[in-house]
Amino acid sequence: MKISVIGAGNVGATAAKVIADRNLAEELVLLDIDAGIARGKALDIAQSAPLADFDAQVSGTADYRDTAGSDLVIITAGMARKPGMSRNDLAHCNGKIVRSAVSEALARSPDAVILMVTNPLDVMAQLTLRETGLPKERVIGMAGLLDTSRFRLFAARELDVPPRDVEALVLGGHGDLMAPCLSLAAVRGRPLRELLSPEKLDELVRRTRDGGAEIVNLLKTGSAYYAPGESIAEMVEAMVRNHQKVLPCTAYLEGEYGISGVYCGVPCVLGKGGLTEIVELPLDEADVQSLRNSAAQVREHYESLLKTIDRE
Ligand code: LAC
Repeated sequence: MKISVIGAGNVGATAAKVIADRNLAEELVLLDIDAGIARGKALDIAQSAPLADFDAQVSGTADYRDTAGSDLVIITAGMARKPGMSRNDLAHCNGKIVRSAVSEALARSPDAVILMVTNPLDVMAQLTLRETGLPKERVIGMAGLLDTSRFRLFAARELDVPPRDVEALVLGGHGDLMAPCLSLAAVRGRPLRELLSPEKLDELVRRTRDGGAEIVNLLKTGSAYYAPGESIAEMVEAMVRNHQKVLPCTAYLEGEYGISGVYCGVPCVLGKGGLTEIVELPLDEADVQSLRNSAAQVREHYESLLKTIDRE
């Protein structure tokens, strides 16, 4: 298993470290336009091998030739948000970065699965699907696991239970309209709706939707990376080990949940070749509606990106 991470910023490097720690790759390449950053971080990760007990050969580079023959390419390159910016404010700038990164990477790894992380990631995944003509199984995005993890943590703190005991699924686009499916949220089998007041639940949903911005405002010079890195590794593990687990991921919808022709977060089964299946869970009407509203917002953002990016 050869995995290349494009972009050696905080998200890319953290994902690489977790992937190495979980022993998910024989070869792990960290690529960045800044070769020193990529090589420095790769060397640092490699030096943790004797302690963390992993076997991956970790290297850093600025040369796409070193990524040749990758089974999986993770795209994290691009600008992070600054305080006051929405993820969609990054679309134009990151669209150009992602377009070039994907084309360079695929030229050397024509069979790779692309895991999109660069924001706005639903839109970036859709741009990639259109420009590469790859089957939708091979272009997926990471956000649902991160948003779900945030929701589980906030709910766990509220109820004073361990986060792992909170079951939840946050679907939809990775934006202001992401869709925490409250009909499915439960703690040790008890519906969250029975445990918390509607006001409290609204507050959890709001904090989850603003979860990324809350960190951007605290850091001031970047966005979150520990939980995103862990979320990426979780998807990679499901694919590498062919777990066929259901995870909330960003995928291209063709009629599921009554939504077509757009990327957004839905329950996905992941395996060796990327997306195995989109699972249609019996959501209640309110959850389906918020999923559709969120998908409509992604579509709007994608269409507005195409108007500008195609003129260049
Ligand atoms: C977040 C950014 C990375 O949600 O999208 O933290």
